[in-house]
Amino acid sequence: MDSEAFVKELDAENQELLRRLAPEATLKPEVDGDLTVVNLLKVALKNEIEASESAARWMASTGEIDVKLALARQVGDEAKHYRLIADRLRELGFDTREFNPLTKGYGPLFQYLDTLETTVERVAAGQFTREAIAIVKNAQFIEFCEAAGDEPTARLYRDIIEPDERHHHDLGRRLLLRYATTPEAQAAARRASQRTLELAEELQALALKSAGIHHAPGC
Ligand SMILES: [Fe+2]
Ligand SMILES: [Fe+2]
Repeated sequence: MDSEAFVKELDAENQELLRRLAPEATLKPEVDGDLTVVNLLKVALKNEIEASESAARWMASTGEIDVKLALARQVGDEAKHYRLIADRLRELGFDTREFNPLTKGYGPLFQYLDTLETTVERVAAGQFTREAIAIVKNAQFIEFCEAAGDEPTARLYRDIIEPDERHHHDLGRRLLLRYATTPEAQAAARRASQRTLELAEELQALALKSAGIHHAPGC
């Protein structure tokens, strides 16, 4: 199939699976216990630094100039998100200067992405799929912030972070249209995309079980 038909099919498959990340129940925000905006923003810092570094590593080992540039933009955007979230955390009374979200190491999704070596797999997993997950998760997080009465954090996500993540997803789409042109490339892209969704689902189940977290923003 041509890349246009392929991307359309992959998108439909992803959207079907993404509905599992957005069950009705998770959209009913709750602010009990440790599930606070501050704690969720700390999770967000880890996602942002991992997304930035993942794209940076790929940028250095990617040959195609348009992909290199897309990754470069992502490196900068995710770093900008980190800074903005850190600023917001400071306003909320949490000083991030002594906080290193990577002290416990990189997460399983970062480690999986780091194993991908071809451009179609990277673009399918890290941009097209990871960023589609982020769009769902950020919508949930914005709703959570609004329910918690935290309009400034909701606005930060709605006006700045969410449009950037959507742009990263669209970059992934454009690059897949250009590079997922052979049956082999399409099969590899689909595998990488499915594994990314599986990992996201496993991680979400784990976060829910261990910390009751189901509104952590994505990247
Ligand atoms: Fe992103
Ligand atoms: Fe981000």
